[in-house]
Parts: sequence; C-alpha cells; structure tokens
Amino acid sequence: MTTKIGIIGDGHVGCTVAHELIVSGLVDDLVMIDLNEGKVNADAVDFEDAMANLPNHVNITVNDYSALKDAEIVISTLGKISLESKGDRFQELEYNKKQLQPITESIKKSGFNGILLVISNPVDAITNLYQQLTGLPKERVIGTGTLLDTARMKKVVAHKFDVDPRSVSGFALGEHGNSQFTAWSTVKVLEKPISELAKSASWELTDLEDEIVRGGQTVFMGKHYTNYGVSAAVVRIARAILTDSRTELPVSSYQEKYGTYMSYPAIVGRCGIVARVELNLTPDEESLLQKSAETIKEKSQA
Ligand code: 2OP
Repeated sequence: MTTKIGIIGDGHVGCTVAHELIVSGLVDDLVMIDLNEGKVNADAVDFEDAMANLPNHVNITVNDYSALKDAEIVISTLGKISLESKGDRFQELEYNKKQLQPITESIKKSGFNGILLVISNPVDAITNLYQQLTGLPKERVIGTGTLLDTARMKKVVAHKFDVDPRSVSGFALGEHGNSQFTAWSTVKVLEKPISELAKSASWELTDLEDEIVRGGQTVFMGKHYTNYGVSAAVVRIARAILTDSRTELPVSSYQEKYGTYMSYPAIVGRCGIVARVELNLTPDEESLLQKSAETIKEKSQA
C-alpha cells in the first residue's frame, strides 16, 4: 500500500512541507501544485536530484489535480503574507478566498476523498471555507491552528525552565491569530502545574503570553515569512493520520458549540478528527475561548 500526499502551493511553506515529507519517509508519491510553473517544476527536479542520496524514493507529480484522486491527504499552503499585516492573519483572507473557488472545484473534480489539512491563513476561516466549498465531512477538514502556537508556548516555557519543549504540556487555544490564548490551567512543566512554579518566579505568565502570541511576527519581521514551525506542525498531523496514532492535538476543527472552526484539543487518527477532548478550563479561559470564536466569526464576515 503506497501513500500519496498533495500539496497546494509551492512557496516557502509548500516546498518546506514537501521537503519534510520526502525526508520523513512518510510518503511514496507527492503531488505538487502551484500557479508558478517554473518554481514548482524546478523544485520537483531539485527534489529528484536528492533521491539517489535518500533512503526512500518518492515519485513527484507536478500540477495535475487528477492525481489527487487517490491521495490520502491534501495540504493547502497557499497564501500572500505582507509586512502591513502586523500579525493580523485576516489580512490574507480576501486573497486566499479568491484562490479557493478554482482550487476547490479542481479538488472536487479530481474525486479526492481523503483528509484536507489547511495552513493557509486566516487558517480557521480558510479551513471553514474549504469544508464548505469541497463538501468534505467536517472531521476530514482540519487546520493547523494553534498546534503551532502551542509549540511556541512550549518553546517559551521550556526556555524559562531550561527543559526540552517536549517536557512541557498544555495548550494554546482559539484563533490562530491575535485572539488566541494560552490556557495556563492546562500547562505543566515536568508534570508540575506552571501556576505553582510561577508563584516563586520573577516573571508573570502574562509576560510569556505576549511572547507566544507574537511568535510568528518575530520570525516574520526577520525573514518576511515563516515556514519551519508550521511545516513541522502539519507533518505531525499528517503522521497522526497516516499511522492512525490517535494523538491529542490542538488543531483547528469545527466546534459545534461555538459554530466555527477554531483550535481545541482533538484526537487525530486515520479518519481525521476522531474525538473531541473535554478540558476543565477556568471561567476566564472559557470566556476567552468564546471571545476568540466571536472574533473569528466576525472577521470572517467582514
Ligand atoms: C505562523 O504563525 C504561518 O501563521 C503562521 O507562522
């Protein structure tokens, strides 16, 4: 049984996702799609130049939507970020909305019936649009959401305690954007609640929050895009799907209670969102989650 993944968009993020998937050994076939024929063909040839020195072979198809028919996963990486956005990912909404009509028509025409993973920003709104336009079941249309922001939270906390980010647990929730928040009641360092550890610290949790929310903007100001953090996030989701690992991940999924896509922990496996995880959030955190949902819905209609 071979594994095929399609990637729509071959910009900084798309080619990084492609590279990570190729060297991970997760895929046997990769379909790369981009309007910039020169770039996507050149990347495909460049990847083929790597094959003789890789432990696994990957067949690459370029700009052929019909090849998505038997893909397990399609990943949307398209986007047009700009310096003016100042971290507001809704700045990309109009551009990406315009791209979605032809793209989703081509996806439907291909007969694709797998799982759609969305990076394209504003990811909660774009994931919602992808689901509506493709008609794929909600549980099979997933956004990277605050899985990336949760990784940034773990990095920031890990630096404070000089531990491996993987020794930090907990979640950033809500919009992948300015209304996201870290649910500090869920955060533990080496299994100890951070709220207890912070009592004797010289810093406040709110100081960490600002660094987390600004994480993407910090990278963006240095190189005018981000790619490695979000690529690692989407490949982690793809791995959970392909291995049916049923991993708890804070991905952007449809939240019936709030009537929108946004990030909340869910169990991810072969069929996409397998189950929702119930957190015991504090009243303040519940209120922040509600506010984030309202922000996404309001800004999606603007
Ligand atoms: C980020 O925060 C691309 O929105 C993504 O890096």
